[in-house]
Amino acid sequence: MLDRATRGIPADFQDPPGATLISLYVIVHAVEGLAPGAYVYHRRERGLELLREGNFRNQAGYLGLEQELPAEASVNVYCLADLKPILARFGNRGYRAAQLEGGITGGKLYLAAYAERLGATGLTFYDDAVTDFFSPHAAGKGIMFLTAVGHPARRRAG
Ligand SMILES: Cc1cc2nc3c(=O)[nH]c(=O)nc-3n(C[C@H](O)[C@H](O)[C@H](O)COP(=O)(O)O)c2cc1C
Repeated sequence: MLDRATRGIPADFQDPPGATLISLYVIVHAVEGLAPGAYVYHRRERGLELLREGNFRNQAGYLGLEQELPAEASVNVYCLADLKPILARFGNRGYRAAQLEGGITGGKLYLAAYAERLGATGLTFYDDAVTDFFSPHAAGKGIMFLTAVGHPARRRAG
């Protein structure tokens, strides 16, 4: 899903073609074959780098504006952009371009999730807290879009 969602879009700000304004960070709660924890996705290598192992359901719930959706999801995907060089290159339009790429990436994650018969939802978030959570790796980056994916872990009985 991460690979399919990050294969680029036809846009003049993706120059050279396939270049990206977005980095994907991931909190895994319950994905077969992956330890629960915080990851960064390496697009070219199509691989996840573990930043911090642990069960972060509570933290993910907080980061997603203190809602249950991101705590109950199987995995949350955060689209971050390093805005300083983007704004230096594109001016104010850079922020809109990064938002657009983040939104389209999130949209592709929805499609990939539904194709796998999983649930998916966009979510709002506490911007600075997301950066802090993934720092030092994400220091200086800002979040553009968050997608929660998977089957909900129902914590209530029944
Ligand atoms: C970009 C985006 C952000 C969203 N943010 C939230 C959110 O923060 N909380 C929320 O409950 N739903 C949010 N939604 C709506 C959910 O996708 C969904 O429609 C809503 O949770 C109702 O789900 P239900 O129809 O299964 O009850 C967002 C949708 C999008 C596209």
